[in-house]
Amino acid sequence: MQKLLINGKKELVGKIIISGSKNATLPILAATILSDHVKLTKVPLVKDIFTMVELLKFIGLKVNISKKDNQIDVRNHDKNIKTLAPYKLVKTMRAGVLVLGPLLVRYNKAKISLPGGCAIGTRPVDLHLFALKKLGAKIKIKNGYILAEAKKGLKGSTITFPSISVGATENALLAAFKAEGKTVLNNCAIEPEVRDLVKFLNNLGGNIKIKGRKIFIIGCKKIKKTVSHKVIFDRIELGTYMIAAALIGKKISLNKVNPELILTEINTLKKMGVKLKIKKDTIEILKSRNLKKINVSTKPYPGFPTDLQAQLMVLMTRASGKSVIKENIFENRFMHVPELKRMGANIITNNKIATIFGPSKLTGAEVMATDLRASVSLVLAGLVADNRTIINRIYHLDRGYESLEKKLKNCKARVKRI
Ligand code: UD1
Repeated sequence: MQKLLINGKKELVGKIIISGSKNATLPILAATILSDHVKLTKVPLVKDIFTMVELLKFIGLKVNISKKDNQIDVRNHDKNIKTLAPYKLVKTMRAGVLVLGPLLVRYNKAKISLPGGCAIGTRPVDLHLFALKKLGAKIKIKNGYILAEAKKGLKGSTITFPSISVGATENALLAAFKAEGKTVLNNCAIEPEVRDLVKFLNNLGGNIKIKGRKIFIIGCKKIKKTVSHKVIFDRIELGTYMIAAALIGKKISLNKVNPELILTEINTLKKMGVKLKIKKDTIEILKSRNLKKINVSTKPYPGFPTDLQAQLMVLMTRASGKSVIKENIFENRFMHVPELKRMGANIITNNKIATIFGPSKLTGAEVMATDLRASVSLVLAGLVADNRTIINRIYHLDRGYESLEKKLKNCKARVKRI
């Protein structure tokens, strides 16, 4: 099994081009079922994307990946289609459940494996099913599978989500895109990735508008046969490298981004004393020391993202005083804490709250990655720690970070995969 070896304490300097967003690409790939031909550019070539491609191929779509220029070309000829998402594919990547909406729209039925638990929490799909039922789908659960049917197609409806979910908002959008008449979705997730899906669906012929946390959809009557789309930048990858630079950067420039979309993250880092220069499509981080404590709660967008909580915690270990994180989105998302403590961090957790006492001197250790964002937090800790850090189970990292070692090495980090 591959490991990542990091010799810490080397100041980072250089440029990083931020990849396309994994979390935006996944629902858009699911949406390719709706069209005959889709060309996607700026696709991050990471494991979760390959798993989604495998699922589309299993369903019967023709998919071509051009690795050299980060493009994916998907064609749906309506031939030998299986309206099935099997357990082996959905269990490794929960976003597989997003094909439910598009399959119902185009083929009026779908059989999708329930994703099951996951390292960071139970992560049910009840809100996805709630929305689809409101649109007229008949849904049963049998032998671990969701059996969904909409023999006469879906019908527009008003749906008020009891709580905010990115995936459920996306599945509802995918299903309502072509539902007869008008649909109003209330209490939606409005993450930039949801907006990117809306942009894609509107290019496809949709009529979708977002106002606050409401989304208005008028059922599409004519879907375009061919459509191209450039995926939005990955704001979580950007935030991760901003924190790396704040930890041990001399001067790092993060390119091809839209700073307007990460104002909460920028303000959080500024309050901690991180020196940033914001330009039109670049963020520059200058040497930042004497970091200050801060209290942060994770929230749906535009709040502070749960996907950056573990990384921010590493920065907090270097700040003076008592910082507090409240994790509001997932119930089991502090698995990086025991590993950070083994590296010298002083952290106490109690239910949803982590209290971080800093500044701590971090020292290298052999540690274990447990999920995607937890593993990258260990990389960040390794970059700033004394001596050598060995990170095991780095397949978690490969699910979501494109060319991580290459990007860090270009900035002079001493990182090696063995
Ligand atoms: C997406 C992101 C993930 C991010 C998360 C929250 C993708 C591929 N993944 O995951 O990286 O951490 O948003 O920003 O985009 N919930 C229910 N019932 C449901 C669905 C969700 O109770 O049917 C709960 C979840 O358990 C969780 C909360 O709602 O506590 C938010 O989850 P959700 O926004 O749905 O996350 P994902 O879409 O799975």
